[in-house]
Amino acid sequence: MDLAAALSIIGFLLLVILLSGLFLLQVVFRIIRHWYHFPIPSFMIQFIDNPLRRRFIQSPEVAADRMGLRPGMRVVEIGPGKGSYTFAFARRVMPDGVVYACDIQKDVVDRLRERARREDVSNVDARIDNAHAFSFPDDSIDRVIALSCLAEIPDPVKVLKECKRILKPGGLVCLTELLPDPDYPFRGTEKGWAAEAGLELAEEFGGFFAYQLHFRKLVTA
Ligand SMILES: C[S@@+](CC[C@H](N)C(=O)[O-])C[C@H]1O[C@@H](n2cnc3c(N)ncnc32)[C@H](O)[C@@H]1O
Repeated sequence: MDLAAALSIIGFLLLVILLSGLFLLQVVFRIIRHWYHFPIPSFMIQFIDNPLRRRFIQSPEVAADRMGLRPGMRVVEIGPGKGSYTFAFARRVMPDGVVYACDIQKDVVDRLRERARREDVSNVDARIDNAHAFSFPDDSIDRVIALSCLAEIPDPVKVLKECKRILKPGGLVCLTELLPDPDYPFRGTEKGWAAEAGLELAEEFGGFFAYQLHFRKLVTA
């Protein structure tokens, strides 16, 4: 066997080992998450929001384009993470719009406030607010956004009912999911939760590995 053939075989084997390892990790994570429901610790959120994801899998600008974010909009983001998406959304709604970045972990909120101060961004309002019972009034928000987040929250249908309550008529609930998030729900599961909450599908984008769904309030006669 010549050197090139040997290297190809070794490369192939390494790839198989890597993919099997990732698959195994995914299964182990899913089993743990099934039995122990807890918010992803804030130090891990740093790894979820990485340049690879933003460049090749889920660009903040593409997500914002799809959501139709415009100046003046009032936006709620659930579980904003490190803020790369939050700040991209905030730029779109400037100068008089605002992004309320809501999380239940103080660490996450503190880091976002610090980043907003550092980058001199005045329209990101990071706050502790529980998506099970938002502090926002009815019909007051143009977009409610949850990126890789909804399935982590213990009662997603209750959260979606809250999203519906605070959404203005004509507003959108925008959900995105991607693998290998250990809480990744199938598209059909998420659509089922939304239907149960009284939301109807408005638009859908992406494929199996990364998708984005938009819902609006179900209009009843
Ligand atoms: C996986 S992280 C979000 C990642 C981020 N959106 C991203 O795409 O990079 C999920 C976040 O949701 C937050 N979270 C969990 N339950 C929540 C709730 N009931 N209300 C608001 N935020 C919640 C967690 O604290 C955590 O920061």
